[in-house]
Amino acid sequence: MRTHYCTDINENNVGERVELAGWVNSYRDHGGIIFIDLRDKTGLIQLVCDPADNEKAHKVASQIRDEYVLIAKGTVRRRGEGLENPRLKTGKIEVVVDELVIENRSEPMPFTLGDPNVGEDIRLKYRYLDLRQKEMFETFQLRSKAAIAARNLLDKHGFLEVETPILTKSTPEGARDYLVPSREHVGEFYALPQSPQLFKQLLMVGGFDRYFQIAKCFRDEDLRADRQPEFTQIDVEMSFCTQEDVMKVAEELLHAIFAACGHEIEIPFNRITYRESMEKYGNDRPDLRFGLELVDVIDLFEDCESPIFAEIAKYPKINRIKALKVPGGDNAFSRKIIKELEGFVTRFGAKGLAYIQVKEDGLKGPILKFLSDEAIETMKSRLDLQIGDIVFFGAGDRKVVWDYMGRLRSEVARRLDMIDENRFEFVWVVDFPMFELEEGALHLKALHHPFTMPKNIDEEDAEAIESDAYDIVLNGIELGGGSIRIHKLDIQKRVFSLLGISDEEAEEKFGFLLDALKFGAPPHGGFALGFDRLMMLLTKKESIRDVIAFPKTQSATCLLTHAPSPVDEAQLKELGIRIRKQPKSDAAE
Ligand code: AMO
Repeated sequence: MRTHYCTDINENNVGERVELAGWVNSYRDHGGIIFIDLRDKTGLIQLVCDPADNEKAHKVASQIRDEYVLIAKGTVRRRGEGLENPRLKTGKIEVVVDELVIENRSEPMPFTLGDPNVGEDIRLKYRYLDLRQKEMFETFQLRSKAAIAARNLLDKHGFLEVETPILTKSTPEGARDYLVPSREHVGEFYALPQSPQLFKQLLMVGGFDRYFQIAKCFRDEDLRADRQPEFTQIDVEMSFCTQEDVMKVAEELLHAIFAACGHEIEIPFNRITYRESMEKYGNDRPDLRFGLELVDVIDLFEDCESPIFAEIAKYPKINRIKALKVPGGDNAFSRKIIKELEGFVTRFGAKGLAYIQVKEDGLKGPILKFLSDEAIETMKSRLDLQIGDIVFFGAGDRKVVWDYMGRLRSEVARRLDMIDENRFEFVWVVDFPMFELEEGALHLKALHHPFTMPKNIDEEDAEAIESDAYDIVLNGIELGGGSIRIHKLDIQKRVFSLLGISDEEAEEKFGFLLDALKFGAPPHGGFALGFDRLMMLLTKKESIRDVIAFPKTQSATCLLTHAPSPVDEAQLKELGIRIRKQPKSDAAE
């Protein structure tokens, strides 16, 4: 229906007759002449309907409203002197219309396109209108380029794109499953895959050697700005590989994706061990766009005169006393701000927030009185204290201290505007512990997943067993993760047993995997990148919803289709399901 997209037309087309199709972005009636900004996916062009040129087209134009769909034919001409619009790509020209058809009408819009103050709920309810906005189209254009770049790069390296089932059995990735009842087998359920993890391992047993998939995954977990119940992974697996081989593919893949979206990134990425990351940054997804490393000072409190600090310092294996030096922070942070920071950390389990200020006449702060002169001197040199600095302290159980001091680090950087939003700071986190013991839990839990190869399975202290697992972190967000997998039956069984999974349970849940490991499974490993997260970071969006065409809300609903929704009684009957109305308290359990 068109000869050109709107913004394909320029001064070289002056005098040409063109045919255009699109929406009325806006229109103005200037003393009888109607100007229309016609919009298509590429942008805007001005149409002119002058009754002196063509009375019929002008008559049609006089009926238009915003978002009407038009087919316009006319001749390109240069705009008059002083009438150019430098903000438009097509600002030097316009199209004098001689034939205009209203192809469809539109009701008044529920919100104005381009208005930054429109609530997200209304945008999601009318997502198809929201998608008409230029920024939205550009985001999805980039997403498409990124996916194609990923496919091309992986294809070049001999990876085969294979689809794995959506109706399947539970794959443990740490979240709840979405279940689908079976009509043929009443009382039985499929689980939607949390990832294609087990199938991609089976493809390796199948000898495919290199697999990838841009795969939909489903996890019923609490949602946050960077999580959706249904999301996409770029999922990769390869055989006869080392951890280095896998990491190299992941780096090249990210390089290709970023390049396709106009960003040159440096590879290989830096690496940090899990332990170093926890100690220096308080978590396993460090944001390295700024410094502010946490420093261990527990030894300086060993013989201190505060019973609380001294007690904490007695158990350096399970406790931490961490210092966060903020250069220039004493000048930057008023008493009020320090109080706010204290309020902030107490939300995450801190009992308070001790601090020392470095003044011209020496150090100031209530905790100094507990420390020996020697300890204070050591602290000064260890932290390289300068006048104007402030040092915050976190003390207590190491997990709690890591968590709130890591958060404090980010909060301080945010308040001091230390984060360069234009930087992409990638880092590999490596040497993860294989297991973690959750508070109150009887059994160990796999830090990644139970199919990850342990480095030292014979280690007596299970918490000291490390795994061949690695995460890719970008600007403080976990972008992806992977591992070398267990390909030997005996090791897989030992890991299940350490996780408290009985032989019967292992057989029932993962019997097919255990069987496959009996038939010559090759050494293999892989990784998965969170594609939505990747696009969110690449396009610098605040929310993952902005890079998903039809996302769910924070409470896992779709405002457009109203999913989830009740179903017919007949449908339920066929599935053998009766809905039990639960009182609120029961439901919560
Ligand atoms: P993992 O569970 O770490 O690993 O997931 C890989 C990446 O997927 C993204 N991701 C999510 N993105 C949006 N919403 C969610 N709810 C969500 N959950 C995860 C993250 C994450 O880093 N099978 C393994 C991979 C492997 O070992 O090969 C796996 O799924 O960016």
